[in-house]
Amino acid sequence: MKETSVLCLLFLISLLSCTTNQARLTVSPSSSQFFKEDFVSLSCEEDDSSAGWTLRRNTSTENRTKCDQWGKSANSSCTIIVYPSDSGVYWCESREGPISNMVNLTVTGGSVILQSPVLPVMEGDDVTLLCKTKTTPSNLPAAFYKDGSLISNGSSVNMTIQHVSRSDEGLYKCDISGHGESNSSWITVTDKHTTTPPPTSTSPPGFSITPVMSSVGSVCFVILLVLLVLLIRQHVHRKFEGETQIS
Ligand SMILES: *[C@@H]1O[C@H](CO)[C@@H](O)[C@H](O)[C@H]1NC(C)=O
Ligand SMILES: *[C@@H]1O[C@H](CO)[C@@H](O)[C@H](O)[C@H]1NC(C)=O
Ligand SMILES: *[C@@H]1O[C@H](CO)[C@@H](O)[C@H](O)[C@H]1NC(C)=O
Ligand SMILES: *[C@@H]1O[C@H](CO)[C@@H](O)[C@H](O)[C@H]1NC(C)=O
Ligand SMILES: *[C@@H]1O[C@H](CO)[C@@H](O)[C@H](O)[C@H]1NC(C)=O
Ligand SMILES: *[C@@H]1O[C@H](CO)[C@@H](O)[C@H](O)[C@H]1NC(C)=O
Ligand SMILES: *[C@@H]1O[C@H](CO)[C@@H](O)[C@H](O)[C@H]1NC(C)=O
Repeated sequence: MKETSVLCLLFLISLLSCTTNQARLTVSPSSSQFFKEDFVSLSCEEDDSSAGWTLRRNTSTENRTKCDQWGKSANSSCTIIVYPSDSGVYWCESREGPISNMVNLTVTGGSVILQSPVLPVMEGDDVTLLCKTKTTPSNLPAAFYKDGSLISNGSSVNMTIQHVSRSDEGLYKCDISGHGESNSSWITVTDKHTTTPPPTSTSPPGFSITPVMSSVGSVCFVILLVLLVLLIRQHVHRKFEGETQIS
């Protein structure tokens, strides 16, 4: 009986921590590439604001530094005016370790950037790539490349890849004739989840993005499962004992 209550308690605690220990790092404006001196806001979107997330980054010159060391913390977001040295990988971390999705940001001192999804794209979605120049209006036709090969030669400022699949994953860049080339950015495509998407007619235009469920999510799930099995076993065992006593 005692063990059962302990197990029940453990189960509840795990359930609670499993559902709250998740965060999603979002970048605003939504892009993996920025021009020098752009204003960028990063935030750890979390289910439970009391969990205490810390935004950290690795750059070529520093490891695991917190927002206070390179940006300004305000409310639950971190704002920064970026320079090329701010290029690196960013993530949100709780006391237990890194949990959110990771995001690669590239800041260029050059004059062309590729605006591509920061977060992994779900299979089947449409992805729009934009090639921008620092000088506005940025409506010059651009060429787009994937893994070094030309995929679209300049009829528009943007390019849409319809119904992305795993094979669209890769390193993308763009080029605006007379202005230069952008840096390259990875586009990651994730498996379609088991949940069926809404009909295409009602889904908004553009691309939708899904957060990466960290490995912690699945660890939580396994712990929950083990606890559940233990609970059931306890229950069956007790029932069995009760029955043998009666008979
Ligand atoms: C950051 O960590 C890597 C190994 O993960 C190490 O090689 C590098 O020297 C570290 N950089 C700094 C600035 O500590
Ligand atoms: C950041 O740097 C630390 C220390 O070198 C390393 O352990 C960690 O794996 C790096 N994280 C990422 C996301 O690159
Ligand atoms: C965040 O804080 C700033 C002041 O630091 C305030 O002006 C702004 O309204 C706050 N935003 C939200 C969403 O609370
Ligand atoms: C970040 O960039 C590195 C190499 O530039 C790549 O190996 C890694 O997969 C990227 N991470 C994400 C989350 O895009
Ligand atoms: C794209 O097409 C234009 C002509 O329409 C040509 O001048 C240019 O060299 C082409 N660019 C590439 C990268 O093939
Ligand atoms: C892509 O370009 C077309 C025409 O230039 C424009 O109408 C459309 O709004 C652009 N899409 C995005 C997402 O910017
Ligand atoms: C981005 O591109 C510029 C110009 O091509 C280059 O100087 C810079 O090193 C690149 N940055 C990164 C992080 O690759």
